[in-house]
Amino acid sequence: MKILVVGSGAREHALAWKLARERDVSEVLCAPGNPGIAEVARCLAADPARPPDLLGLAVREQVDLTVVGPELPLSLGIVDLFSARGRPIVGPTKEAAALESSKAFAKDFMARHGVPSARFRVCDTAEAALDAIAGGEFGLPLVVKADGLAAGKGVVIAEDRATAEQAVRASMIEGRFGASGSRVVLEEFLTGQEASYFVLADGVSCMPLSSAQDHKRIFDDDRGPNTGGMGAFAPSPLLTPEVERRVLDEIVHPVLEGMAAEGRPYRGFLYVGLMLTAEGPKVIEFNVRFGDPEAQVVLPMLDEELSWLLGEAATGALPSRPARFRNEPHVGVVLAARGYPDAVETGKPISGVDTAAAVEDALVFHAGTGRRDGQLVTSGGRVLTVVGRGPTYRDAIDVAYRAASHVHFDGMQLRRDIGRKALLGSDPGDGSTQGVDTSRIRGLTP
Ligand code: GLY
Repeated sequence: MKILVVGSGAREHALAWKLARERDVSEVLCAPGNPGIAEVARCLAADPARPPDLLGLAVREQVDLTVVGPELPLSLGIVDLFSARGRPIVGPTKEAAALESSKAFAKDFMARHGVPSARFRVCDTAEAALDAIAGGEFGLPLVVKADGLAAGKGVVIAEDRATAEQAVRASMIEGRFGASGSRVVLEEFLTGQEASYFVLADGVSCMPLSSAQDHKRIFDDDRGPNTGGMGAFAPSPLLTPEVERRVLDEIVHPVLEGMAAEGRPYRGFLYVGLMLTAEGPKVIEFNVRFGDPEAQVVLPMLDEELSWLLGEAATGALPSRPARFRNEPHVGVVLAARGYPDAVETGKPISGVDTAAAVEDALVFHAGTGRRDGQLVTSGGRVLTVVGRGPTYRDAIDVAYRAASHVHFDGMQLRRDIGRKALLGSDPGDGSTQGVDTSRIRGLTP
């Protein structure tokens, strides 16, 4: 099987790396890829924002199956385009991708189907949003979300009314996110602990994959601005069998059934962003793709052929059993460029990647890397994800940081506390360390 991976980040490197090791895969192509991906796949220049170009490439190269990493091509209808030409592809159609590309759609949809989530109001004008804020319906803090895709920057958690009003003005009047911000969703702020849950769906049924926890803020102890993710670990100790059952019964299955009933059957990876509240798991957001950096820690744990799972998902024949995973936690640390998550410096020489990758039980996935005169250089905000695995979270953390210590580039920044929450078990928030009973977490049992 010849497989095309669309995208150029560390998530796509993890997808390509996994596929390239599989028995039934004759070749992995990646468009556009990066220097790390080029070690496991043939990279072809293409713009993921131009689905017709990707279709042309898939036809020319006689690709058997295409898998899409980022949300943008999905929201632009790449799956509709490929399907219309009979080209197998894994991912949601443009209409189904609205679960991520329109927060208003996602919230209304959840309300229609009884999926637990925060109380909300969709506002089509700035006046309506400012009135709703003045009315204090949801109290403070208040969550203000731009409706459309905003590169992870469209959500503001406003501690006070002035900040909420400013977020509305920036989105709806000043046009900070273009058309994506012309509508906003105001939401009640949920308290609890955050985790992510991933399934692969085939339009009707789904295969539960794994849980994970991301570290979204730039600095240790969850301080500073939000990023695309500075590190992740999998599985999440918070997703006990009881919680996982509730997530499947109360969220995943109603969503898939609801999408099918509304004529938008969901196919592809579904990322459920969760808040585990005192009342039970609630949805913070959906993403219509695998997470980044979660894919970098989940995919290496997968103990069966991803190419087979993707093929079954593409044809609507996916078994509904849980996927099989290796019995060892994985921890991934993102190495980012100076300035990230704002404007970054690029073109800085990177050293030590091969030494890091040679550390036993470590993997290095490329994201913002490029080549200049044969030298590996930085080319983006998140540059590399260094992953460690081991029999315990502590071992996996140690491996990841030992490997990361070999990498250097000018301005490199990383968090030093990735995975610590797994050691804190249920993260009681009081600084205490309580042991994790890993024997009860799926993916960690033999
Ligand atoms: N890790 C967050 C995301 O993939 O959007």
